[in-house]
Amino acid sequence: MARIAVVAGDGIGPEVVAQARKVIDAVLPGVAATEYDLGAARYHRTGEVLPESVLTELAGHDAILLGAVGDPTVPPGVLERGLLLKLRFAFDQYVNLRPSRLWPGTAGPLGSVKPGEVDLVVVREGTEGLYAGAGGALHRGTPAEIATEESLNTRHGVERVVRDAFARAGRRERRKVTLVHKTNVLTHAGSLWARTFEAVAAEHPDVTTEYQHVDAAAMFLVTQPQRYDVVVTDNLFGDILTDIAAAVTGGIGLAASGSINPDGTYPSMFEPVHGSAPDIAGRGVADPVAAVLSAALLLDQLGHADAAARVTAAVGQELAARTPGVPLHTAEVGDRLAAYAVA
Ligand code: NAD
Ligand code: IPM
Ligand code: MN
Repeated sequence: MARIAVVAGDGIGPEVVAQARKVIDAVLPGVAATEYDLGAARYHRTGEVLPESVLTELAGHDAILLGAVGDPTVPPGVLERGLLLKLRFAFDQYVNLRPSRLWPGTAGPLGSVKPGEVDLVVVREGTEGLYAGAGGALHRGTPAEIATEESLNTRHGVERVVRDAFARAGRRERRKVTLVHKTNVLTHAGSLWARTFEAVAAEHPDVTTEYQHVDAAAMFLVTQPQRYDVVVTDNLFGDILTDIAAAVTGGIGLAASGSINPDGTYPSMFEPVHGSAPDIAGRGVADPVAAVLSAALLLDQLGHADAAARVTAAVGQELAARTPGVPLHTAEVGDRLAAYAVA
């Protein structure tokens, strides 16, 4: 039986992860889950963010379920970089997979798109780009202060994520990949991405390709999200575009993701696209669907496609039954999803 590590984290993380675990336990009874207490509370108590010993233990699991990381009482970046990105980088989770679909019962963008018409997946590069940590600061706090953040793009890193996007597109009905970048301005990295994309595309004559600048893609994601199938892009563009994709497909409370190490050398990590939502934390009103759909991605990755499909179908039932404007209760949604999933 699979061994899952659970990092509930901060804010609404524990609230939504508890529901994801309920649902996993319902569809896959007896799965071994070990909780790891990481995040703001541990940082304040011990000064630790991610001890090496914990990193080693996490590496021994088949997958990680993560809630959210980040807290207003901790300086920006300490947990986001020191915990979340450290995990993504240490476990070489170079495919950050972020599917979006417009579910029945949820509102489409500008009222123009019908449920069922949007089914896209963003393949966001997960280990490079502006997230790599290259850069520095000089003369901090003085009028002469200088700060740089450099985007790191390697042929190896770009090629492997582009290959993943094409392989995924080849397994989908529409078989289309859109490269999103900003080749008209970021000419160094843009050229590397474009040439790599063209080279991989030549090996996949069955896949339709398209290129868009990121500003246009941001607009079309809002106005015509149905035009996308697989979108491949760099780390920061992917971060921003997937919040937009979430917003036009029912909201951030529904958006799931997987930080995948496709080689299987390290565990993959499954986490909502949203963060710790300090503004609603502790009130029991966060939507757990993003965490539950992330659990479905986890189950699928571990080879439990039937269990994953049952969870996804349960979410469909839940969303179809919702009345817009009626507040939801996190734990009740979890109970309903668990019940639907085994009905
Ligand atoms: P956020 O996603 O936490 O919140 C943005 C808005 O969306 C808030 O109004 C929040 O209430 C709402 N929201 C988020 N999830 C929701 C849910 N499940 N149900 C209902 N409403 C929900 O983004 P933020 O406010 O920019 O960031 C808060 C903290 O989370 C920061 O520390 C940030 O670094 C961190 N963060 C972590 C992750 C992660 O762990 N993967 C992702 C994004 C942000
Ligand atoms: C996300 C988050 C993270 C990211 C942050 C918290 C490091 O915004 O998972 O989308 O930028 O990847
Ligand atoms: Mn984000």
